[in-house]
Amino acid sequence: MQLYSIKDLDLAGKKVFIRCDFNVPIDEYGNITDDRRIRAALGTINYCLDQDCAIILASHLGRPKGEYNEKYSLLPVQRRLHQLLKREIKLTKDVAGEHAKKCVTEMKCCDVILLENLRFEAGETANDETLSKALADMADYYINDAFGVSHRAHASVEGITKYFDEHHKAAGFLLQKEIQFFGTLLERPVRPFAAIVGGSKVSGKLEALMNLLPKVDKILIGGGMAFTFLKQMGYEVGKSLVEDDLLDEAQRVMDEAKRLGVKFYLPVDVVAAQEFAADSVSKVTSVQEIPEGWMGLDIGPATVRLYRSVLADTQTILWNGPMGVYEMDRFASGSRKIAHFVADSYATTVVGGGDTADLVQRVGLGEEMTFISTGGGASLELVEGKILPGVQPLVCGEEA
Ligand code: 3PG
Repeated sequence: MQLYSIKDLDLAGKKVFIRCDFNVPIDEYGNITDDRRIRAALGTINYCLDQDCAIILASHLGRPKGEYNEKYSLLPVQRRLHQLLKREIKLTKDVAGEHAKKCVTEMKCCDVILLENLRFEAGETANDETLSKALADMADYYINDAFGVSHRAHASVEGITKYFDEHHKAAGFLLQKEIQFFGTLLERPVRPFAAIVGGSKVSGKLEALMNLLPKVDKILIGGGMAFTFLKQMGYEVGKSLVEDDLLDEAQRVMDEAKRLGVKFYLPVDVVAAQEFAADSVSKVTSVQEIPEGWMGLDIGPATVRLYRSVLADTQTILWNGPMGVYEMDRFASGSRKIAHFVADSYATTVVGGGDTADLVQRVGLGEEMTFISTGGGASLELVEGKILPGVQPLVCGEEA
């Protein structure tokens, strides 16, 4: 998929609005605990600075309910941007109100301002035209570099694009890279191509699984979602997470895999616990012998060995979703080991954002993967085969 590129715009000395995804985790002291999304936007910001642009940065943070809430202020982001860019970054007091307008009017070449959290305006998530226009009026050019939120049809992501023609809007470098990686992965993967799909629920991954089946050679299932498949196969899975209303769908996925000749792997053993708690009594058991009333919270060592051998000959690996409750140390081993196999493989390795990206960073393997997406929900929707509402208006050529 070809997108209008920032490189094709004549930006020199102009005002540029860059939609970023600075929705970063912040601890109770107000510290940013993972600034990857901020650093990932620097390529586009620095490019615009090199073109002597005046830059308006805009992002959401968390989910405030359409009104000012100090907890969700972009102040920590402004500070981190200041450290990284080594220049003054002015944070506006409102989003598109008097203060923001004044700051924008007074901007000179190479000034950078950061609008306050877009979701302090109810119109942002409502994709309100008035807000879209007010934001569009601030700048000569619109750049979307917010891959992580491009699956949301919001005012600063979708609505705003209507106010710029094709010579005045484009994808930033990060958005281009994300779309290109997933495009190549899903359209022209080097084979064998394996998808590791985990996470808690089948419901969240059903569309992704169905879309992946015609493209991959192998699917390896982990996480809570495995139990819906295992139950459908007739196993007693105790109190493990099962979506009973999706048993038929699980069968449909397995039938389709068989029909297409895709190797479909499920865990053969699990770490089962009496309770969903970090200090619960736990033991390794085969999936046939999960004790009544116990629940599987991680894949077991036999599954880890099986999955390692299954991954050994792959040339492309897509990983979306952890293998167990990795936030609890006792149930993190399966995910950690799979992370090491993926990192050590010679395959092209693409990690979906969200939990899987977080997990890979925690294990310290971020640098070992070919590509880690900055978008959780957005990358999943790409894998589901959707064109994201924030990306569609930037598509050029025949696919537009
Ligand atoms: C994310 O963190 O996935 C994006 O920033 C989107 O946030 P949202 O799920 O609150 O829309």
